[in-house]
Amino acid sequence: MADFPQMRLRRLRRTNALRALVRENRVEVGDLIYPMFIVEGKGIEEKITSMPGIFRHSPDRLPLEIEEIARLKIPAVLLFGIPENKDETGSRAYHPEGVVQQAIRVIRKSVPELIVITDVCLCEYTSHGHCGIVSNEQVDNDRTLPLLAKIALSHVEAGADIVAPSDMMDGRVKIIREALDEKGFQHIAILSYAAKYASAFYGPFREAAESTPQFGDRRGYQMDPPNVREALREVKQDIAEGADIIMVKPALAYLDVIRQVRTAFNYPLAAYNVSGEYAMVKAAAQRGWLDERQVVPEILTAIKRAGADIILTYHAKEFARWLQIE
Ligand code: PBG
Repeated sequence: MADFPQMRLRRLRRTNALRALVRENRVEVGDLIYPMFIVEGKGIEEKITSMPGIFRHSPDRLPLEIEEIARLKIPAVLLFGIPENKDETGSRAYHPEGVVQQAIRVIRKSVPELIVITDVCLCEYTSHGHCGIVSNEQVDNDRTLPLLAKIALSHVEAGADIVAPSDMMDGRVKIIREALDEKGFQHIAILSYAAKYASAFYGPFREAAESTPQFGDRRGYQMDPPNVREALREVKQDIAEGADIIMVKPALAYLDVIRQVRTAFNYPLAAYNVSGEYAMVKAAAQRGWLDERQVVPEILTAIKRAGADIILTYHAKEFARWLQIE
């Protein structure tokens, strides 16, 4: 083995071109999914205080936004709905005229080739803010499953390309797969939030989506942050039930989980760079404490280096814009 002074690792760091030649990981715009909040109503474009640069749009306000996303060559969006009225069973989640169903149709019309992914969960639609049916202050797993299947089916009937269950109920991938197949939607993929942790990094999202639980927390269904072997079991289970793409969420405090899942499974792997991770960068950048044009690519590259193929990120638009300017 060569030793110093024969071996000098700095030789390949000397110029931009040399660094690019030996670069091991690259983030492309084509790897990104842009999450969006859709609010029921007309003419609405509201700022989300804790997520600077991110808005809630009503379906009629989507075309301009969607055309911009397409111009930036971002391949996919993930839709979250915020209904006008919530109830115990989240019935607006599976209504054919629900806010996400309307949004899907608008997007399909304005940019047909954009990949439309929908978040399948009840928490934005239930009056209590939990991700399932509540009985005796507990989320009832098995009574929730048929509703999740109904939501997924209604999204697909409206034109979704991929459904993404995020509720963490046991058995939901299986029941969604069966419901889709039964109606002839064998060609529609499932992106499962397989290893989703009970994380405080979802804080800004809950403001954005008005989905904070009214009592208790989500630790009875989302994963306990210290566990990684359990994440591998979750992923294995979701693959067995028919998931096509698996996800780890959040991303930054869970890069080791991403790496372990990548090593153990040959499936397309997504990681969710969540709202709190976005908010931290924005807050520091606004104070001039961090240079976001450098920090954001560094963060996204770290997620790829950990092993993710796909990154869900609120930074997608600005990242794509920076690449176009460069
Ligand atoms: C819905 C859902 C949440 C997120 C995605 N889907 C919130 C939660 O589970 O409390 C979080 C996304 C983010 O923080 O950016 N269950």
